[in-house]
Amino acid sequence: MFNKIAVVGGGHVGATVAQRIAEKDLARTVVLIDIVEGVAEGKALDQWESGPIEGFDARVIGSQGYAEAAGAELFVVTAGIARKPGMSRDDLVKTNAGIVRSVAEAIKEAAPNAIVIIVSNPLDVMCAVAKEATGFPRERVIGMAGVLDTARYRAFLAEALDVSVEDIQAMVLGGHGDTMVPLVSYTTVSGIPVTQLLDAERLAAIVSRTRQGGAEIVKHLKTGSAYYAPSAAAVQMVEAIVKDKKRVLPCAAWLTGEYGLHDVYCGVPCKLGRNGLEAILEVELSEEEQTALHQSAEAVRGTMATV
Ligand code: NAI
Ligand code: 2OP
Repeated sequence: MFNKIAVVGGGHVGATVAQRIAEKDLARTVVLIDIVEGVAEGKALDQWESGPIEGFDARVIGSQGYAEAAGAELFVVTAGIARKPGMSRDDLVKTNAGIVRSVAEAIKEAAPNAIVIIVSNPLDVMCAVAKEATGFPRERVIGMAGVLDTARYRAFLAEALDVSVEDIQAMVLGGHGDTMVPLVSYTTVSGIPVTQLLDAERLAAIVSRTRQGGAEIVKHLKTGSAYYAPSAAAVQMVEAIVKDKKRVLPCAAWLTGEYGLHDVYCGVPCKLGRNGLEAILEVELSEEEQTALHQSAEAVRGTMATV
């Protein structure tokens, strides 16, 4: 268990992340921070009062500032605006870059040794903004997207095959956008290659639905974007770090030559443990997947150039 974990942004994703962290007893103190007066304080108090029912002892505290978060071992950054129908994740870039930069500077002051998980969109670019603003090494600034995109891919596959989601092993790499790269060649059902169980046309339809998974939910909600699966994904990363599990999960990491990519955040298989990003696993990709990964990284670079 960590002593203190802070979640910045007390909106849909952030508040749900804080609640899941408390319910899993991953920290003694969970600090929820939001810029809007009363939002974090009210939600945190409400969550803390659910402890006796849910059976957790974590103290959830809400705040508008960073004093309570001083010395936190881990931050999850969800501050920013979310997508509305017709908007791409990249449409958020200018507003969210300013927000994430100011949040990152505050984290550097309050907790210079913290590990930071970025959630705000456009994800890969926000990771780069946070890394630059904190000056933290790449081991301590990691992005959440691949776990979410992979969960959607696994859910769609499990439904198509009528098997348990637990038996689908898969990874979605690349940037968190329409160019993401579901690795069909590494997708298995309890070790059986998925290509032996689903025809190419159905697989292509699932890959396409995965790429549009965020937009599909925005279309239903109309006033915002997904938060149940995103918060579960972020907390899976938190848990891997807190419990030093050495889990291999697809996360956005700053690449310094891996997969032939330099100086860009992109989703790749990462080992997460107590030190944050402990290793990047380089696996062989088909020519098509390697090309798609590079195209995805180029798309991230294109958005990076705008900030
Ligand atoms: P939301 O609008 O419900 O919450 C955002 C919160 O951030 C608001 O409460 C707002 O007051 C707060 N905020 C704004 N500026 C702040 C600042 N400087 N300091 C502290 N708090 C600040 O949005 P939601 O749905 O929670 O999404 C949050 C972000 O996460 C969005 O950018 C969204 O696109 C992104 N997202 C990313 C996902 C991923 O896979 N990486 C998945 C889902 C959402
Ligand atoms: C999602 O994929 C909006 O990035 C967010 O749901």
